[in-house]
Amino acid sequence: MADEGEGGKVKEEPKLQPGMHPSFMNVLKTRERVKERLSGVKHKIGIYSAKGGVGKTTVSVNTAYALSAKGFKVGLLDADIDCPNLSIFLGIEGMMDVSSFPLKPIEKYGIKAASTAMIVDDTKKPIIWRGPIIVKMLYDFFENTEWGELDYLIIDLPPGTSDAPLTIMQVLDLDGFVIVTTPQRVAGINSIRSGLMAKRLNVSILGVVENMSSGEPSKSTGMVVSTLDTRLLGTVKMNPLFSMASDEGRIPASENDSILVMFNSIIESLVERNK
Ligand SMILES: Nc1ncnc2c1ncn2[C@@H]1O[C@H](COP(=O)(O)OP(=O)(O)OP(=O)(O)O)[C@@H](O)[C@H]1O
Ligand SMILES: [Mg+2]
Repeated sequence: MADEGEGGKVKEEPKLQPGMHPSFMNVLKTRERVKERLSGVKHKIGIYSAKGGVGKTTVSVNTAYALSAKGFKVGLLDADIDCPNLSIFLGIEGMMDVSSFPLKPIEKYGIKAASTAMIVDDTKKPIIWRGPIIVKMLYDFFENTEWGELDYLIIDLPPGTSDAPLTIMQVLDLDGFVIVTTPQRVAGINSIRSGLMAKRLNVSILGVVENMSSGEPSKSTGMVVSTLDTRLLGTVKMNPLFSMASDEGRIPASENDSILVMFNSIIESLVERNK
């Protein structure tokens, strides 16, 4: 059924295509609503790897900072629903005001940030939800957060290749993913899994970042880049300042020039692509 959209334009409801399972309509309708909610956002970039602990949140936060330092309007979305870490990395202790909708992200370092940790008032208890609840929570979160006008929305994904990453790939209409890996073979294998899943769901791969690097990309990272037929965006060297600053809620790139230089070179090709 057609509906009156913004500015009186007639919106077409998504239609069930031949061979499509009827329950997929729900995904398509959510996708349309989320698209409308994020209509002021020019570019949406996911930071992803199926492997835990490789530095997705680190790369998300420092990439967002580097973009913001170049004068772009930037948002950071923590899509890790069950283990949300973004507030810790940004040193945000405040909560989003849930008494009025849509929810407003909290600003720090000139970056707008939103995380379920800013809604669920307890960081000491585990959030134990089954897949369908996580998917519902992601839908609600995406539909009900107001980002306004942004040049870049950086989305910090959880690890794995199941419910949450799948929902993000289906619903968010991303420009693409930056795949994070480390020099180890086990990280490379899981990063390839992540990239192949994204490709299967028609989400572009924008490039690979080797984190915890010596500076010289490893054989395993070379394998990730060639298997996914993409490019290396840059390397991020191992540096104890990352964990020290992040544990205290400070952004490493905001206080260390050599770290900022590494992230500037990573964002260079992302920004270049959009010119
Ligand atoms: N280049 C680096 N040098 C040193 N420590 C790092 C580096 N990158 C990340 N770390 C540290 O490694 C730990 C894991 O990083 P992070 O939380 O960003 O990984 P993640 O992939 O987001 O993890 P998860 O899968 O749990 O979401 C953190 O303590 C972080 O500070
Ligand atoms: Mg993380």
